[in-house]
Amino acid sequence: MTKHDLIVVGAGPGGYVAAIRAAQLGFDVACVEQVAELGGTCLRVGCIPSKALLESSEKFLETQGALKEHGIDVSEASLNLVAMHKRKDKVVKTLTTGVSGLFKKNKVTRYEGTASFSAPNTLTVAGKDGETDLEAERIIIATGSASVVLPGIEIDGERVGTSTDAIAYDKVPEHLVVIGAGYIGLELGSVWKRLGAKVTVVEYLDRILPGMDAEIAQDALKTFKKQGLEFKLGAKVTSAKSQGDKAVVEIEGQEPIEADRVLVAVGRKPNTDGLKVEAIGLELDKRGFVPVDEHFKTKIPGVYAIGDVIGGAMLAHKAEEEGIACVEGIATGTGHVNYGAIPGVAYTEPEIASVGKTEEQLQDEGVDYKKGVFPFLANGRARALGHTDGKVKVLADAKTDRLLGVHIIGSRAGDLIAEAVAAIEFGASAEDVARTSHAHPTLAEAFKEAAMAVDGRAIHI
Ligand code: FAD
Ligand code: NAI
Repeated sequence: MTKHDLIVVGAGPGGYVAAIRAAQLGFDVACVEQVAELGGTCLRVGCIPSKALLESSEKFLETQGALKEHGIDVSEASLNLVAMHKRKDKVVKTLTTGVSGLFKKNKVTRYEGTASFSAPNTLTVAGKDGETDLEAERIIIATGSASVVLPGIEIDGERVGTSTDAIAYDKVPEHLVVIGAGYIGLELGSVWKRLGAKVTVVEYLDRILPGMDAEIAQDALKTFKKQGLEFKLGAKVTSAKSQGDKAVVEIEGQEPIEADRVLVAVGRKPNTDGLKVEAIGLELDKRGFVPVDEHFKTKIPGVYAIGDVIGGAMLAHKAEEEGIACVEGIATGTGHVNYGAIPGVAYTEPEIASVGKTEEQLQDEGVDYKKGVFPFLANGRARALGHTDGKVKVLADAKTDRLLGVHIIGSRAGDLIAEAVAAIEFGASAEDVARTSHAHPTLAEAFKEAAMAVDGRAIHI
């Protein structure tokens, strides 16, 4: 039996960040990860490879006409998908190796294998070279999530697959059907559309991007349609399976659709496979999440959980914040995550970014609010970039002027939202943002102008 002060199970953004922070705080830390590369879903098959492909496919699209208006004629640009995947794999490898380096630097002991509980303070790690027993006073479960598969959908990884398949298609599908118009469906649907596929997105709800501000999601839908993505909203998929060299997707009350590939992107579920939580009497909630209190403690003394496996927004940066708050809580008794200031970003073009409350939430909660909107059409930098689609929408308390929500659709919205997150974190008012100098010409000026518009005094519109 090898002893450590603290063991983290899972080396995704939640787990590896928790392990490093705990090591910084002086704990003897171990991290158990079942696959060879560190970094979890995010680095291996999620955030990073999808963003690498989004970037490459956007560059390819630019050569197909968008550069013309800049006076650049590109003739015969052609796609080398093998090279594109190679670049993506290199980006992933650099980052996963980087986490390995960080573990060494911070003296985090790494175990490769699947961890399962044998007692509340004891884990068995089943690895390539047999089993290792580990003991620690504190264990953090950070085992992440996996794709949801609906009944009637037969994943074969060939014609019908998940995001892990869709980041590695070896050729551009002629027709890709995406089930689900959430983050994954829209990001990876955009990638393959840009690379030449016909893309049909089938969504159960009558809108895209559930959870995002409805007005912004409606704008996004219009833009995606202009880009050639096809949508079937309010459409319930009842089955999807391979049939010969095609796949067939059946939708309630509609004609079936034939496709070369089907991407199932209907959400993710907590992953506790192989962990044997029952061995310590840890009960999961109805949806399989690990229940925790505000200090990330489970009902079992010494056992904590963070990240996708506890539910809430399934985002890498949310998992990281929880990892840090959890170990700081263990070390100091305090540790806190402000869930009201966790941004969400869809890295489509334009990007869609959001923090705080949506307009619908404020209406449902009966909050009296003011609204300021500023379009990128009236922003000098957006004009220079040739990216004028979109707007910034600021929602502030009608009485106190405190920022309640910021929603952006536009180029680089994912970077622009950082300022709004900081403003909300610091309890800023719209007036504070309006009186903050913003460099000119920058896209960020649109946020300042939207904050001014809250009070009806935007200058450039
Ligand atoms: P994970 O990253 O899932 O890591 C859990 C780790 O635990 C895994 O490595 C797993 O192998 C390991 N593990 C599981 N069980 C055991 C066990 N019993 N023993 C040992 N190891 C175990 N989020 C964003 O914020 N931005 C994005 O742009 C973004 N893009 C995404 C794109 C895609 C295609 C997908 C699928 C997800 C994306 N996400 C994105 C979501 C993000 O990946 C997750 O929210 C994040 O990875 C959650 O981190 P985590 O540490 O909780 O779990
Ligand atoms: P999602 O929850 O974002 O979207 C799933 C969509 O599928 C919803 O719109 C839902 O209504 C729809 N749906 C459900 N059942 C359906 C059915 N039977 N037929 C048709 N549509 C159906 O989930 P997604 O896209 O799979 O992503 C999973 C999670 O991964 C996200 O919630 C997010 O937390 C994370 N992620 C984050 C990214 C980012 O931050 N940029 C990128 C990719 C993933």
